[in-house]
Amino acid sequence: MRLAPAASIAPSRIRAIAALADEHPGTLRLFYGEDTLPTPDFIKQAAHAAIDSDRTYYTPNPGYPELRDAIAHQYQQLHGVPIRREEVVVTASGMMAIHLAVEATVGPGDSALVVTPLWPNFVGAIQVAGAEAIEVPLALEPDGFRLDLDRLESALRSNTRLLALASPGNPTGWTASLDDWRTLVAFCERNDLWLLADGVYERIVFGNNATIAPSPIELPEARARTIIAQSCSKAYRMTGWRVGYAIAPPEVAPTLAFLQEYAVSHAFGVAQEAARVAIRDGDAFLAEAQARYARHRDLAVDRLRQIDGIQVPVPDGAFYVFPKLNGLNESVAFCESLVRERRVGVAPGSAFGEGGEGHVRICFAVDELTLLDGLDRFEAGWRAFRDRGLST
Ligand SMILES: Cc1ncc(COP(=O)(O)O)c(C=O)c1O
Repeated sequence: MRLAPAASIAPSRIRAIAALADEHPGTLRLFYGEDTLPTPDFIKQAAHAAIDSDRTYYTPNPGYPELRDAIAHQYQQLHGVPIRREEVVVTASGMMAIHLAVEATVGPGDSALVVTPLWPNFVGAIQVAGAEAIEVPLALEPDGFRLDLDRLESALRSNTRLLALASPGNPTGWTASLDDWRTLVAFCERNDLWLLADGVYERIVFGNNATIAPSPIELPEARARTIIAQSCSKAYRMTGWRVGYAIAPPEVAPTLAFLQEYAVSHAFGVAQEAARVAIRDGDAFLAEAQARYARHRDLAVDRLRQIDGIQVPVPDGAFYVFPKLNGLNESVAFCESLVRERRVGVAPGSAFGEGGEGHVRICFAVDELTLLDGLDRFEAGWRAFRDRGLST
């Protein structure tokens, strides 16, 4: 029997490395985007209380009103613009927010521009929706990644309806300035595109005492065409809880909410309640987590810079470093060899689309010992791989 076209979409290469690591006990897991520390206690306690007060029934499709209000309030405070409950849709993960935004804006016969290297699930979601994803790489310069508007202009087609990107980016850590967003919004206006702006890592930024990355939501001209995808996963160490949200124009948000009915109906009520408390009480925790990731970023960058044949763009946000390994053009084979021979798992750059091959993604959200041990193993594996002529 023949399966539908969606069945032929390539599986995630990050998950493939994870599966290989499962077969090799003792492998250090630097391939996923998550902290090794557990969800903080104050969030867990909120979940216990939510179970005890029976937050276990179906909830409204766009989430509990109290949570939507808490999100609107927080976003308003962080970005200095008015946000109403009607613009907020709680979703069963950031991934679901991406899915709903894509489903609502593109379909068969349409195309979407995706700024890469990027977490592969954007391209996957666009393909699942039956649309074509056109990958447009950031430019890699000696001092890091940079947005290249000319590349976007020349990738555009007459059927393009959507521009999707993340800032801070995964895996690059590239973070759009407000001027970059102005340029991107003007591009979307000129070409009548929706803008899907992923801000999942916006609370994890480094440098200049910044505590939040700029968002297109701050630009009045962006509001009518912008859907923000958000998640509690990374900011609050809640990766397994599957709770996120979208912020969309008030006439679009109800569409996202009813589309969620046809996937998972809504996020789990207990996770929603835990998210509400995380958002209400989480500021001190966030400051501490941000300081920890800043320390780990410096450790990772300094350590990698001691290794020959590697260019290390310094990430401005998120919790990954995405070094370029000179001469590497088979990142999957290299990452497999790291698991088999050194018991360290990192994600192959080619998993992240155009501009990713030749790099690997290393997650520095893990505890310090795992990170340093992982980087030692990585160096040994890279030297051995290079000495063999860059092949397995
Ligand atoms: C850029 C980006 N967006 C969204 C997500 C999805 O987060 P989640 O589905 O765990 O909420 C991730 C996860 O890695 C991500 O890296």
